[in-house]
Amino acid sequence: MKKDLVTIKDLSSKEIEDIFNLTDKLKVNKAKFSKVLSGKTLALIFQKPSNRTRVSFSVGMYQLGGNSIYLAPNEINLGVRETVEDVAKTLSRYVDGIVLRTFEHKNVLDLAKFATVPVINGLSDFSHPCQALADVYTVKEKFKKLKGITLAYVGDGNNVCNSLLFACAKVGMNIHVGCPKEYEPDSQVVSDVKVIAAKSGAKVNIFNDPLQAAIDVDVLYTDVWASMGQEEEIKVRKKIFKDYQVNSTLMKLAKKSCLIMHCLPAHRGEEISNEAMDSPNSVVFDEAENRMHVQKAILIRLLKR
Ligand code: CP
Ligand code: NVA
Repeated sequence: MKKDLVTIKDLSSKEIEDIFNLTDKLKVNKAKFSKVLSGKTLALIFQKPSNRTRVSFSVGMYQLGGNSIYLAPNEINLGVRETVEDVAKTLSRYVDGIVLRTFEHKNVLDLAKFATVPVINGLSDFSHPCQALADVYTVKEKFKKLKGITLAYVGDGNNVCNSLLFACAKVGMNIHVGCPKEYEPDSQVVSDVKVIAAKSGAKVNIFNDPLQAAIDVDVLYTDVWASMGQEEEIKVRKKIFKDYQVNSTLMKLAKKSCLIMHCLPAHRGEEISNEAMDSPNSVVFDEAENRMHVQKAILIRLLKR
């Protein structure tokens, strides 16, 4: 694997398969890996709030015998108190890896460029690779296969959607995106993903009609209508996205066995109904748990050198 995990685009299908195989082992035999990162420290630079990412990386590091240090927005104050380059060079003298949750994706790229230790993207405005890897792992765990499975992402063509597009295409899963015309995923991502999909055999379809996107799919996935940093747009977005809710209407169009997925946090009653979120088909908390297992595999691959 490369030094860093910045985007799933950088991972080969083989590397993803290797992460998933290691994740299986970590889930079955936790004790075996309890000292594998002993003496290693991970810095967590967070410029946005977090429950899953922060806790799963901290606990994951602890379970591997390592240590983590959380750095809140006002501590590092990335790019304001000092440059990203200087932060990267300083932290590289102390720690063995850095997770960054930030706004501009360029911050992740710059941190990775100047750090001599691995940098993991813990969410930027462009992508959320750890999330999408855990999502695809969860699908594999539930269906015991990935090829031929179709996931429909319904909602905003945001960071999570971009990463899911890459992840599905890399592993040969079909993906539908159902989103309003002006909220389609990044056009460069879509064209890159189509090239990857042509090799893996995955089919990629962008629909502006949520109903069409949901027909006969194996997974219905959604995320918030307004991401962190877009809170002031929520009033406008609620109107635009009102028909893009994962609910019983979409569930009836999908396969009976269709999984309901959400990266969380969920805004119940907005992008997902209570009925869908709490249905027997919902795997949202297994998905959240798998964040930790998959990230432990990523940490081992990047930090154990
Ligand atoms: N899904 C996810 O990344 O959750 P947090 O924002 O709580 O970390
Ligand atoms: N798209 C959301 C994902 C949160 C995990 C956001 O960026 O806020």
